[in-house]
Amino acid sequence: LANGLALTPPMGWNSWNHFGCQIDEKIIRETADALVATGLSKLGYTYVNIDDCWAELSRDDKGNLVAKKSTFPSGIKALADYVHSKGLKLGIYSDAGYFTCSKKMPGSLHHEEQDARTFASWGIDYLKYDNCNNGGSRPTVRYPIMTRALLKAGRPIFFSLCEWGDLHPALWGAKVGNSWRTTNDINDSWDSMISRADMNEVYADLARPGGWNDPDMLEVGNGGMRTNEYIVHFSLWALSKAPLLLGCDIRNMTEETKMIISNKEVIAVNQDPLGVQGKKVRMEGDIEIWAGPLSGNRVVAVLLNRGPVRYSITAFWDDIGIPPKSVVQATDLWEHKTLERQFVDKISATVDSHSCKMYVLKPIA
Ligand code: DGJ
Repeated sequence: LANGLALTPPMGWNSWNHFGCQIDEKIIRETADALVATGLSKLGYTYVNIDDCWAELSRDDKGNLVAKKSTFPSGIKALADYVHSKGLKLGIYSDAGYFTCSKKMPGSLHHEEQDARTFASWGIDYLKYDNCNNGGSRPTVRYPIMTRALLKAGRPIFFSLCEWGDLHPALWGAKVGNSWRTTNDINDSWDSMISRADMNEVYADLARPGGWNDPDMLEVGNGGMRTNEYIVHFSLWALSKAPLLLGCDIRNMTEETKMIISNKEVIAVNQDPLGVQGKKVRMEGDIEIWAGPLSGNRVVAVLLNRGPVRYSITAFWDDIGIPPKSVVQATDLWEHKTLERQFVDKISATVDSHSCKMYVLKPIA
C-alpha cells in the first residue's frame, strides 16, 4: 500500500500468541519497557501490537469503540502516549466483520471511517484487521473500505490484512494493505510452523517493499519447539521477508530466546533494502534449499533439514542464483563467523534433524 510505510517488513511484538484474550494495559506497558530494556527496540522491534479483546462489547452512545474499563482503565490514548514516550509505536486490532473472532468486542464493518478516525486520534500506528463474523461478503469488498478510511484518517497507519489467505490476498493485497496473511493461524509446533512457511512461499514473487506476505506471527520463546526448531522458524521468517512480530512474553524470556530473536545478521537479511522474498530453490525429500538475493550482489541461503536424521546438504550456485565458477565468501549467520575457506560452485554442511544452516554468500571473484 502506497502509504509510505513498510519499506522493509515490520518488526515488533503482538499479544495474541502468548496471551490470547488475557491482556491488560499493564502487560502492554511492561512489554514496551522490556523491549527497551532488553535492547530489542534498538534492533528494530518497535511495534507494540494489541490483538483481540481490548474493547468493551458495546460502543458508546456516539457509536465509538471504547477500551474495556476493567483491563484498560487508562484508555488507549494514554497507552499510546506511554509507548510513544519510549520511542515505540502502538498497534491495535479490529475486524472486517460485525464481531471479532473472540466475539468479545465489536468489529469495524460499517464503522470503518469512524473507527479509523478513533484510531488516528488515539495515536495508533498499526492496525491488524481480522476476518471473522463478516456476514459472508467478499474480503476484496470489505478490506479496501478500511484502506480508504485509514488513508483519510490523517495519520500514517500500517495496515495488516488478516484474511488468512483464503481468497489469495497476495494477489490483491498490494493496493489494500502493507502485509497480508497467507495462512490460517500458527501454533507453537514444528508442523504448524513449517507448513505455514510452505504456504507462504508459494506467493514469494508477490512480496515487495510496502506490501509483504505474512505467514503469521513468531512463536519463538513460547516453549513448544526445540531451540534448533525455533532457529529454523526465525531463519525462514527472515529469509521470507515476513513480519518479525514476536509472540512470546518478552518480560520473561530465556537467554536462548533472546539469543535467537536478537541475531543481528539474520534480522539484517529480513530488513535488507532490496526487499526480495527468498524461496525454495531445491527440494529432495527432507532436504531443502531456500535462497534469495540481497543488496550488494549477495545471496542468502538456508540449508534446511526437515527430516528425523542428520544429512549432509549441498547448495549449488546454479540453484541459488550465483554465477557459475564464482569464488564466494560465506558468512554463517548462526555461528557468527565468516568462514576462512572460500567456496566455488557450491557450499555443503552437515545439518541435524529439524535444523538449518544459514549463510550470506558474497561472490569475490
Ligand atoms: C484470528 C487471527 O488470525 C489471529 O492472529 C488472532 O488475531 C485471532 N483471530 C484473535 O481472535
